[in-house]
Amino acid sequence: MILVTGGAGFIGSNFVLDWLAVQDEPVLNLDKLTYAGNLENLAALQGDARHVFVQGDIGDPALVRTLLAKHEPRAVLNFAAESHVDRSIHAPGTFIDTNVVGTFRLLDEVRAYWSELPPAQKEAFRFLHVSTDEVYGSLAPADPAFGEQNRYEPNSPYSASKAASDHMVRAYHHTYGLPVLTTNCSNNYGPFHFPEKLIPLVIVNALAGKPLPVYGDGQQIRDWLYVGDHCSAIRRVLEAGRVGETYNVGGWNEKPNLDIVRTICALLDELRPRADGRRYAEQVAFVKDRPGHDRRYAIDARKIERELGWKPAETFETGIRKTVQWYLAHADWVQRVQSGAYRDWIAQQYAAA
Ligand code: NAD
Ligand code: DAU
Repeated sequence: MILVTGGAGFIGSNFVLDWLAVQDEPVLNLDKLTYAGNLENLAALQGDARHVFVQGDIGDPALVRTLLAKHEPRAVLNFAAESHVDRSIHAPGTFIDTNVVGTFRLLDEVRAYWSELPPAQKEAFRFLHVSTDEVYGSLAPADPAFGEQNRYEPNSPYSASKAASDHMVRAYHHTYGLPVLTTNCSNNYGPFHFPEKLIPLVIVNALAGKPLPVYGDGQQIRDWLYVGDHCSAIRRVLEAGRVGETYNVGGWNEKPNLDIVRTICALLDELRPRADGRRYAEQVAFVKDRPGHDRRYAIDARKIERELGWKPAETFETGIRKTVQWYLAHADWVQRVQSGAYRDWIAQQYAAA
């Protein structure tokens, strides 16, 4: 089996669902169930013996040791993290706890387990670390997209914590020979995306008749990738990636935030027009900028295409339409994730906007 950490979050749950849809190898899913973890994402696997869920912390060495000894996974895929940049600005401590210390503790237990494996299993074992393009910092308009050789220049507490974890993963390969793989992916979107992030926030606020908060001038650029394409890239890297290598994963889809918001508004105008006949774009509200806001991310995904033959299957147009349709069809999911804690975060983050 494989051990997936953070498999109740946005990307992790999409990964687990996709994995079990395309193959039968069981998944052990270790997730702390923070505010971002949601077992409802995995409801389709209820009663499926191929999915074993354990609530727990990647930074709990005794738990990780027990799970590794009991289930003997052939690979560990580390999705678990604190992932929201704005939260890292308000409260960086949990980002250090999970992304830095947690990843270190996980790595250390995995190294101990791996070092005792029989030779053939030791050779075949993989630790795949899921990371982000944000470790590379911010690009100027004419800069080439981030390649794997770009210098690390993280600018937020979130990206600095992810950069630290990437370095630790690299060090465990270089020093101990642990067979690691690292993926650095651009912005994902799709089903089960927690509505604190731009795309789901805009969809749910639009439908609720609330303002659509655009930070600063809305001209910051992100490179969007449909989550299913990220999952297929991870499966491919696990299958055939060269040990010790990093692979950048992206959608060749650079777009300014304001364009994203307007695209969503136009789709909603078509699929769920406002009762008063007005346009959703009238709800756009420019609010104060994110401190230290990175201006542009863009991924050069040629290495993963050249070496592993991976390319995204979705265009932005197909992916965003599917995503808006998913949110329209899952109003109950949206309502349930908008708990008291969620409302507290939104009130705090957008209070002075
Ligand atoms: P998410 O916040 O939606 O989910 C994170 C999951 O990790 C949650 O289920 C949470 O309960 C769990 N978790 C948090 N702390 C934990 C701990 N200490 N032990 C065990 N589980 C813990 O995040 P996401 O957007 O799904 O991101 C998943 C991974 O992909 C992260 O490592 C993130 O840095 C990376 N990434 C995300 C994006 C993106 O656009 N969302 C892009 C590139 C890379
Ligand atoms: O690039 C990969 C990263 O993408 C991942 O590593 C992170 O885990 C993930 O959260 C995401 O980070 P971003 O900061 O790019 O995503 P977010 O959805 O928070 O914001 C996207 C852009 O939209 C960013 O430029 C900030 C802006 N934004 C965001 C929010 C929440 C707004 O303008 N208004 C908002 O209310």
